[in-house]
Amino acid sequence: MKLTLRHATKRFDDKILFKQCSFTIPSGSFVAIKGKSGAGKSTLLNCLALIEPLTSGQLLFDETDVTMLSWSKKSRLYRQDISFIVQDFGLMPNETVMENLIIALRYERLSAKKCKQRCLAVLCKVNLADTLLDEPIFRLSGGEQQRVAIARCLLRQPRLLFADEPINALDRDNAADIMRLLQAINASGCTVVLVTHDDTYDNCYDDVIYL
Ligand SMILES: Nc1ncnc2c1ncn2[C@@H]1O[C@H](COP(=O)(O)OP(=O)(O)OP(=O)(O)O)[C@@H](O)[C@H]1O
Ligand SMILES: [Mg+2]
Repeated sequence: MKLTLRHATKRFDDKILFKQCSFTIPSGSFVAIKGKSGAGKSTLLNCLALIEPLTSGQLLFDETDVTMLSWSKKSRLYRQDISFIVQDFGLMPNETVMENLIIALRYERLSAKKCKQRCLAVLCKVNLADTLLDEPIFRLSGGEQQRVAIARCLLRQPRLLFADEPINALDRDNAADIMRLLQAINASGCTVVLVTHDDTYDNCYDDVIYL
């Protein structure tokens, strides 16, 4: 899916985060958003992912102006097409890996057995052992938690994937793993937009947007 931002402005009270911002993220591309802390990167990502409204301007998904859609149409679009990895992973720490994963399957009518098979298949894709399925999240390392968050996105097969600092606070090996997974998701046709402070993977991006 292609994303187009036209003359977009976002303001919180009298604080302007971005003004008359325009760019296009082509379908199937891998784009990074960079800028100093507090510049508004997370807010921009939230706006692109329909979590936060723009103050003014247009956001188009392919040729559709999504700023004009009703709340229910936006939420349907979000459910169907968008996956979002939040800065702190967005997992429920006291629930098991399985319970965190099956949230992504809640709109599909699958048997318990089929759900478990799908969860095990994505765990394998992110290099996590089957035995972790019944483990509560709080017992996992930061890198493992991040991989569960990505596994959950994989279950959804989104057309748009947003990730807010997905490799922040990870060691080099874990960060490289996560980047490989995001590239694999991107290679399957999903448009990927991530926020990062890291310059290590600059050659992986089709474009970098600076705020
Ligand atoms: N809901 C809100 N209401 C008012 N101000 C907000 C709100 N959300 C964010 N802000 C402010 O907007 C500014 C940008 O926040 P944002 O989280 O988008 O920055 P960021 O670039 O992601 O920073 P970081 O790199 O530290 O994550 C901050 O000054 C923040 O306090
Ligand atoms: Mg942020």
